[in-house]
Amino acid sequence: SLVNENESVLSGKKVIVTAGGTIERIDPVRYITNDSSGKMGFAIAKVAQEMGAEVHLIAANTSAEPPAGIMLERVQSAEDMYAAVLKQWETSDMVVMAAAVADYRPREIAQTKIKKKDSVFTLELVKNVDILESLGQSKKHQFLIGFAAETEHLETYAIDKLERKNCDLIAANDVTVNGAGFGVDTNAVQIYDRSGIVERIPVQSKEEVARKLLTIAAGRMGGVL
Ligand code: CTP
Ligand code: CA
Repeated sequence: SLVNENESVLSGKKVIVTAGGTIERIDPVRYITNDSSGKMGFAIAKVAQEMGAEVHLIAANTSAEPPAGIMLERVQSAEDMYAAVLKQWETSDMVVMAAAVADYRPREIAQTKIKKKDSVFTLELVKNVDILESLGQSKKHQFLIGFAAETEHLETYAIDKLERKNCDLIAANDVTVNGAGFGVDTNAVQIYDRSGIVERIPVQSKEEVARKLLTIAAGRMGGVL
């Protein structure tokens, strides 16, 4: 056939992709974030659109260039990201949580710049909402994909997260593997479902990883294929 089947497996589907590291404010000039570059989420958004999906990309702090021609909503904190995702949730068919959502945020955001004072400064942190877990609790027709970056016990931790957050698939990466850490253009992931390993994707470009992950997801979603 002249038509590449891969071009249309997500047509008619609305896909939300989150990317980057959330920014948790301390005061007007300071914040906490993490090393996420946003590259994996951006690659997923780009490839999902190539596969025919209507993509809504929600990105926090990123260092990578966002993909052209994709609806992009910028957010800062985990709470902002949660609100942005919830606005699209009911009408979406798939959510890919590639963002590195901060687990904790400062208990209070100081309204004015915190002044230097004592030799020891204690910043109190409180737990953020778990966006993926909350979606997992309220999901109906939506297909949910989580990510898990681990330094040990990859399979056990990944499947534990998948079950706890009621995901359909989880893409786990061992961040100790060369070419699979933060900020690089490549990744290597193991994809798991409830019953175990689905696919091992060795080190390759984040776009190729995205294509394989989304092809598996499309095949498991209702409707198409
Ligand atoms: N996630 C989320 N909201 C959070 C934390 C994580 O939606 N507050 C999502 C991430 O986007 C990712 C998945 O949950 O898709 C797993 O994130 P990860 O940080 O690996 O898991 P945690 O449950 O936070 O556990 P830990 O950091 O202790 O390993
Ligand atoms: Ca975490």
